Amino acid sequence: MAPPPAAAEQIETTTTTAIHEEDDGQVVNPWEVSAKDGGKIDYDKLIDRFGCQRLDHALIQRVEHLTSCPAHVFLRRGVFFAHRDFAEILDAYERGDNFYLYTGRGPSSEALHLGHLIPFMFTKYLQDVFKVPLVIQLTDDEKFLWKNLTVEECQRLARENAKDIIACGFDISKTFIFADFNYVGGAFYKNMVEVAKRVTYNQAVGIFGFTGEDHIGKVSFPPVQAVPSFPSSFPHLFSGKENLRCLIPCAIDQDPYFRMTRDVAPKLGYHKPALIESLFFPALQGETGKMSASDPNSAIYVTDSAKDIKNKVNKHAFSGGQDSIEKHRQLGANLEVDIPVKYLSFFLEDDAELEHIKKEYGAGRMLTGEVKQRLIQVLTELVERHRRARAAVTDEVLGPTALLWAVGHFTRCSPSGAVLHASTLPRVLLVE
Ligand code: TRP
Repeated sequence: MAPPPAAAEQIETTTTTAIHEEDDGQVVNPWEVSAKDGGKIDYDKLIDRFGCQRLDHALIQRVEHLTSCPAHVFLRRGVFFAHRDFAEILDAYERGDNFYLYTGRGPSSEALHLGHLIPFMFTKYLQDVFKVPLVIQLTDDEKFLWKNLTVEECQRLARENAKDIIACGFDISKTFIFADFNYVGGAFYKNMVEVAKRVTYNQAVGIFGFTGEDHIGKVSFPPVQAVPSFPSSFPHLFSGKENLRCLIPCAIDQDPYFRMTRDVAPKLGYHKPALIESLFFPALQGETGKMSASDPNSAIYVTDSAKDIKNKVNKHAFSGGQDSIEKHRQLGANLEVDIPVKYLSFFLEDDAELEHIKKEYGAGRMLTGEVKQRLIQVLTELVERHRRARAAVTDEVLGPTALLWAVGHFTRCSPSGAVLHASTLPRVLLVE
């Protein structure tokens, strides 16, 4: 028998067959998330199939220990539930080696919904507790290739979405946000072709499920999302630090991109990027997929008014309560399928209060209406806070050009970039 390959040589993409058609009936890839026969996503199966690891309690304790901060709600409650090589990041950090964070968004809708905020809220926490640099990629090109939108519309959406992202409150001195149409080129592009040359068409088909009918724009895109994992793609940020490790917080549907990236990384002399991956945020109607930006009643948007939130929760949030009060008092709510409880477990910080609600509601002593009431309060506060922060990120703050608003050192490098002044940006971006 051939000896097992060294860790760095282990191939990750061959552990998976084509991901577009699964024999277990659930489809999870960057473009589609659906469970079998309208059921729930089976995350254990997903971990097995993708070949990532479960984020266990010991790792979470390690994070608390290393950062001297309580773990984020999303860690404590298993929202970020899977990882690849997260322990290696913590080992390196413990030894005093730094790392950087990389996350992103495909700007396909005007307004973000709560599900979209999750990776950014979590990334902000990671940046705060580890005090590390962060790059955020806006894949306006990806959305042009996959959706029926013009280039200009994708660029406009990237700009609008950037305001929501900035409103999450990242450390202005350590954050670089870029849109692909503006930024791709130079060292970033060199890395893209280095990656492209090392992935065969058959491998891409195996990882992403492309067919002969897909246009070649789709086939050519994955290197764009891969290379922000390599520090040399950002010479203005990381020059001389080509060995820096990268940690990517994302929803688990992005895993295929990074399985491919991790296979290629050692061949280019980089560390494999580590990943920390989340569940999908369920739709108001129930947990069969992720929230869809195209069905306004399936999601709460950051632009929803207090009245919208109240209506949506009251009318559309799937309840695990019984249909008559008598039956409810007798049997209690089914917490497994109850959306108000699920949403509270994402956004209600107080562990004791959440436990109390689950206990009382599950036993039938609390009614759906009361739980929904509390959820409406929590979400209204969150959305209101976001709205205030976003209002501070005006077009002037982003700069006058529609083309380029990327910030940080990049403004210096690019002649068309508007230079931002820190004084006008109380909590936003960086000008060196
Ligand atoms: N493909 C992602 C989307 O459609 C956007 C994205 C780019 C991303 N780079 C990323 C997401 C890194 C998470 C991590 O939303």
